[in-house]
Amino acid sequence: MKEKILKMLKESSPAYISGEEMAGKLQTSRTSVWKNIKLLQKSGYSVQGSSRRGYRLVETPDLLYPAEISEGLLTEIVAKSPEVIHHFMQVDSTNNCLKLLAEEGAPEGTVVVAEEQTAGKGRLGRSWSSPRGKGIVFSVLLRPPKPLEEISIFTLLTAVAVTRAVRKKLPGIDAGIKWPNDILVKGRKICGILTELKAEADRLHYLVVGIGLNFNHTSDDFPTELKKSATSIFLENDGRHTDRKETTREILREMDSMYREYLTMGAEGILEQWKDLNITLGRKITIKSLRESFAGSALDVDKYGALIVAGPGGERKRFVTGEITTQEFKTRDRDKSPSKL
Ligand code: BTN
Repeated sequence: MKEKILKMLKESSPAYISGEEMAGKLQTSRTSVWKNIKLLQKSGYSVQGSSRRGYRLVETPDLLYPAEISEGLLTEIVAKSPEVIHHFMQVDSTNNCLKLLAEEGAPEGTVVVAEEQTAGKGRLGRSWSSPRGKGIVFSVLLRPPKPLEEISIFTLLTAVAVTRAVRKKLPGIDAGIKWPNDILVKGRKICGILTELKAEADRLHYLVVGIGLNFNHTSDDFPTELKKSATSIFLENDGRHTDRKETTREILREMDSMYREYLTMGAEGILEQWKDLNITLGRKITIKSLRESFAGSALDVDKYGALIVAGPGGERKRFVTGEITTQEFKTRDRDKSPSKL
């Protein structure tokens, strides 16, 4: 009922719509309309009431409610309806929350989005700082009918989707992908992606792809140790406002279209796009994996998304996971230390 009333208010905005008209369309009482208007106001919607003219939507809150995100979204798998988008003001981690839903049988494309995470998770056991309303943090459930060895492609695919969305929203922004899936702007990290999965033998049950895009952060919003190495859309847009809801929609649209492309046409196109947007290949890097630290030139990514590195003697090594450091990502003078994001 609340969602239907919101839809009517939006459709008639900026004009008023009478309580009687809404009650008639919904076959309910004017009191019930009034109660739902109160609920909308409690959720942050600014709705003006006039005894003669009815109700008018003045402002929507800057919150990533399902009704807001799904407006004009038109996706086919990812977040395809408001019913599969779950919004929380606060969760420990959207990945954790979505894994619980996945275990209960949530459909592919289900999204968990939060305004704040109290225990946001990063790669390699790190944490991901997620203060309220500052970032765009959400997780997407995928159930691809694909073999386990292809899982890295989903992370690359997501990095491409976010980079494209960011570039579309802010055409001047020079966002690039550091292998495997960090998104950097002028050497500073603006987005991280954490993919978790459930699999059995070689059968993939589901993937939870978690995205954390630094959005409204000022430098004070980052923990001290990240102040030099992190950035946000707000900072890169010279302190100008960017629409958080529209950016979220754009990421979901890109993810949906790339995921469908992958399902129908395979990884080739995804890898091409990743290579186009990457800032890793051709650079001298040091990669730390669980087993070793290896210095060399980043040559290529193979069809599974693994990084191929050539050592000083020309020997080639393949890395499925690991963390890269390089001086060269840094383009700002004051950053002399190796990037470790
Ligand atoms: C990284 O270390 O770069 C990955 C960061 C991933 C953070 C996102 S925020 C939404 C989702 N939920 C989590 O707990 N982590 C991911």
